[in-house]
Amino acid sequence: MAMTRFEKLFVNRQEKGDRNIETVRNRLIGLNIQNIHDVLEVGCGIGTLSAFLSSEYGMNVYGTDFDPEQIQIAGEVYGEDDHLRFRVEDAAKLTFEDASFDLVVSQDVFHHIAVWPQAVREIARVLRLEGHLIWIDMVFPNVITKLFKPFVKTYGLYTFDEIWFEFWENGFDERVHERLIHGPFAYHHFVLQKVCSTVQS
Ligand SMILES: C[S@@+](CC[C@H](N)C(=O)[O-])C[C@H]1O[C@@H](n2cnc3c(N)ncnc32)[C@H](O)[C@@H]1O
Repeated sequence: MAMTRFEKLFVNRQEKGDRNIETVRNRLIGLNIQNIHDVLEVGCGIGTLSAFLSSEYGMNVYGTDFDPEQIQIAGEVYGEDDHLRFRVEDAAKLTFEDASFDLVVSQDVFHHIAVWPQAVREIARVLRLEGHLIWIDMVFPNVITKLFKPFVKTYGLYTFDEIWFEFWENGFDERVHERLIHGPFAYHHFVLQKVCSTVQS
């Protein structure tokens, strides 16, 4: 779901972009960067991280977001070239071909996607076998999820077990996992690898 004007004021700040870059730079440590050519960022917002990945590592990056206004700002601020493109895309209905990317990054996006299991499926579909997913977001306690799920239709609400099951079912294996506390929420940083090309059951 697109963010409100108030949420954008908070999310589109330079400090948030700088923090995202630092976080993902750290998560890239341990991956073989030479093998990462094609990158998709889902929910890129105003594109700060996508632009960094393209300029710092020479990766071919698609920065994508559901919200045309965010994508327009990204294009105006960072411009586009052969290695950096911005596109309006719904993470739950990506228009890219199967196996198009070596790396997908999703930072603070899933709690905005009501149909988040579909987004996991789509990310698995567009990733190449042995490609990686850097996934960073909060997960919700069981009790909150149970209480609010019937009413919350426009945000993603999921427990750790639910999101992990979806990763597993779509062929992901964990390479790095860290749980960080931000106020009342548990933030999870995952580096996952696609180890299986068919849905497991
Ligand atoms: C909290 S912001 C995070 C932006 C950026 N990743 C960051 O960390 O600064 C969430 C972003 O996800 C986007 N978004 C929400 N639903 C989406 C969807 N279904 N597909 C793609 N992007 C989506 C929003 O438009 C917004 O830009």
